[in-house]
Amino acid sequence: MPKVTFLPHDKTVTVSEGENLLRAAMEAGVHINASCGGDGVCGKCRILIEEGHLEGGLSDRISAEDQAKGYRLACQSTVTDTDVVIRIPVESSIDVSVLKRQAAPRRTARIHQPDFESLREQGLFVPPVEEIYLELPEPSAADNQADASRLVNFLTLNHDEHRLVVRLSLIRKLPDVLREDNFRVTATLARPVQPGRKTHVIKVQPGDTTDRNYAIAMDIGTTTIYGQLIDLISGEVLAEKGDFNGQISYGEDVITRIMAAEKPGGLDKLHEVVTATMNKIIAAIVKQAGVRLDDVNAISLAGNTTMTQLFLKVNPRYIRRSPYVPASNIYPPLQAVELGLELEDHAAALVYPQVSSYVGGDIVAGVMGSGMYRTDRLTLFMDIGTNAEIVIGNKDWMACAACSAGPAFEGGGIEFGMRAARGAIEDFSIDPLTYEPMLLTIGSVRPKGICGSGLITTVAVMFEAGVINNQGKFDRELGTERIREREGVWEYVLAWQDETQIDRDIVLTEIDIENLIRAKGAIYSGCMTLLEEVGMGMGDIEQIYLAGGFGSYVDLEKAMIIGLLPETDPDKVTYIGNASLLGARMAVLTNRLRQDVVNVTRMMTNFELSETASYMDHYVAALFLPHTDLNQFPKLKTRLLSSRPNS
Ligand code: FES
Repeated sequence: MPKVTFLPHDKTVTVSEGENLLRAAMEAGVHINASCGGDGVCGKCRILIEEGHLEGGLSDRISAEDQAKGYRLACQSTVTDTDVVIRIPVESSIDVSVLKRQAAPRRTARIHQPDFESLREQGLFVPPVEEIYLELPEPSAADNQADASRLVNFLTLNHDEHRLVVRLSLIRKLPDVLREDNFRVTATLARPVQPGRKTHVIKVQPGDTTDRNYAIAMDIGTTTIYGQLIDLISGEVLAEKGDFNGQISYGEDVITRIMAAEKPGGLDKLHEVVTATMNKIIAAIVKQAGVRLDDVNAISLAGNTTMTQLFLKVNPRYIRRSPYVPASNIYPPLQAVELGLELEDHAAALVYPQVSSYVGGDIVAGVMGSGMYRTDRLTLFMDIGTNAEIVIGNKDWMACAACSAGPAFEGGGIEFGMRAARGAIEDFSIDPLTYEPMLLTIGSVRPKGICGSGLITTVAVMFEAGVINNQGKFDRELGTERIREREGVWEYVLAWQDETQIDRDIVLTEIDIENLIRAKGAIYSGCMTLLEEVGMGMGDIEQIYLAGGFGSYVDLEKAMIIGLLPETDPDKVTYIGNASLLGARMAVLTNRLRQDVVNVTRMMTNFELSETASYMDHYVAALFLPHTDLNQFPKLKTRLLSSRPNS
């Protein structure tokens, strides 16, 4: 793979052929002024090729004479298959100590890939719905047993299936189906959660259809619902879709949804709209994968406690009232149609159990999907979104807690906050002398706003560069026009009006930073309180699973700089993405997981942080960058002292 060396910093990164040069610089922690997100319009990202060559990068923003000298726009250039040396034009007076103050290289977490092959090797790839081809003896005068008995007896005698139950809906269809292909049929069996319990015969189809066995995995998020269509023979995801939860118009968070459900007719309405979103996703993925609805035999569902209760049309009223009691933690096996899902009437619905009102099935699904319930290694699991859930433990014990982080990580409460979509600022660096920014946006287009991971990086970079202090306040004396006061609020202009897509300056205000500090403070203090409750410290944690919408892009070092994550070795961190969806998918691939999940749920000891005396103390101490006690962040402390010896 080609190497790119940046001068005068003398930093080298290895990148893939075709990598955008501006992104390569960000990867290396090298600053290049860039304020249009990489769209090619601001003309600020000029670089000079010293050795080798780049693809593209020519622009009318660069004179013909300079083009001939080797000047290019970094954001429009891509790396070829050969090494290249690039010079960043910087102030001639720049000295080495300033170069050292540039951002550290990006450190994103390793991404977890579920190992379905090993499931197969361990004999655990046994989906909860199984199809068996049968050639039943035809009835005769000597053998005129009832159709259902014929089916059950054959399965018992020839396939060692016991305690079988045939649903009434199937008995209604059975006589015709059996005779359609002369008693050659495929039976679909829904396995019990616990061995020895009843197996349900849920479907019988004429002929051999054993090559068609599908299921749906679904994460019912407060904001977004995701569904996957899964082939239960290969384990592959055939189609995938996400959509905003239709309940959003009834409130952004679970508390406002519960309040909406308490109004007359509210529960029915909320059930109806969430089901409508789910049905839209089901229809889309079934169509996208080109499978017959009749061949979808199960749906596995994971959501937080409120989302689960609203979907099941169970009043969530007591979830928001002390002592915060959910209606049930475990749900019986259900039929998808009885929940309003537009699947065939045989399809089984498997709903993830939960631990408490605020540690729901989505977190249990994450614990199961990540595999932390099977490991000896002491693990910290964090799912970060509007609410943050934290689990500590391993195969022998687990403690969990939830805290409300607020919507900052999803762009809420941030003046130009937005979800991680095209045009969102996702990465940031700052010139340590001029305080000019380098912005990268999703899709390399002009910026529209800033997403959660962009916000974390921006605040971390500004803090390390001394642009904001540990209380999140801008240094008013830096002498850059980008820091200004508007209507009594101080802000930094990330992009000027003519560089954006929204025809307005995009700014980061001190109020935005305050909201971020509160959000990260809640998560950090939740984590520290839980560790304290179980008598441990960060040093005891052997691995960290990070889940949530923003995780794959989050720069771990930056998340530690602002004190969102405890300071730890980034190599210990694995990003598992949408953990709830991962767990839902695992549940349809291995029935063993469904057997284990009830015990795991019982093993998870829930701590109510609001009832834990030290939580507030931890929270107040965490309302700084990174924390009032810098000794909890020794690496950062050393870096800050060496880059700002007088601070
Ligand atoms: Fe390259 Fe604006 S022109 S970042």
